[in-house]
Amino acid sequence: MNQASMIPCEKSIVGISASPSENSSTARVLENLLSKMSSDNAVVDHIRLRDLSPSALVLGDTSEEAVHHALQLVEEAAAIVFATPIYKAAYSGLLKLFLDLMPQYGLAGKTVLALGTGGSLAHALALDYGLRPVLQSMGARHVIQSVLVPTVSIRLDGGRMSFDEDIEAALTEAIYHLQCSLVGITTDPLLGHPRPQRPAGLSTI
Ligand SMILES: Cc1cc2nc3c(=O)[nH]c(=O)nc-3n(C[C@H](O)[C@H](O)[C@H](O)COP(=O)(O)O)c2cc1C
Repeated sequence: MNQASMIPCEKSIVGISASPSENSSTARVLENLLSKMSSDNAVVDHIRLRDLSPSALVLGDTSEEAVHHALQLVEEAAAIVFATPIYKAAYSGLLKLFLDLMPQYGLAGKTVLALGTGGSLAHALALDYGLRPVLQSMGARHVIQSVLVPTVSIRLDGGRMSFDEDIEAALTEAIYHLQCSLVGITTDPLLGHPRPQRPAGLSTI
């Protein structure tokens, strides 16, 4: 059975990219991850926060059409990937604006992944110390081990994106946990946590 046929069609995954840059590495890394999860049966959406109304985000106007739609997609999602550039050793302000529009327990029952891009690994803990507690406080069910992708580890060959081996392995592991949550496999005691004994070749379902 392939990954696609295991995912019930009512389950959806939403990726949220939170860079203000037009040519965003974060958005491209997220798009790459989402493309590995998309299939005929999985509903996959990518919300680029830079496309939402800046004034609606700043003023907390959840009635604005695109913001309202984005919040609805998030509410309906089984799994959410929060993708942010590291700015000043923290997640982006754009992401905070969006998180502040969500209900207090807007992540209840959901699986979430914090995915970052940064100039180096120096501020990798920004995801675990800065973003993870916020996601946890919003009721996330499973918080998958975060992944920080240093920009130097990203390779672009024509239109094809790849990563240094260790980053590729971390992303593959994150996808495994996202897939598990989408297909309802919640019996893995290490769900959401790195599996140090992961056998080669079994890194995805
Ligand atoms: C204002 C600003 C602040 C940044 N601060 C950090 C930082 O503290 N640590 C780090 O590792 N990278 C830092 N960077 C580098 C970005 O995290 C990195 O280039 C990222 O991939 C940008 O993603 P984007 O293209 O999606 O905006 C900073 C970049 C900018 C523009």
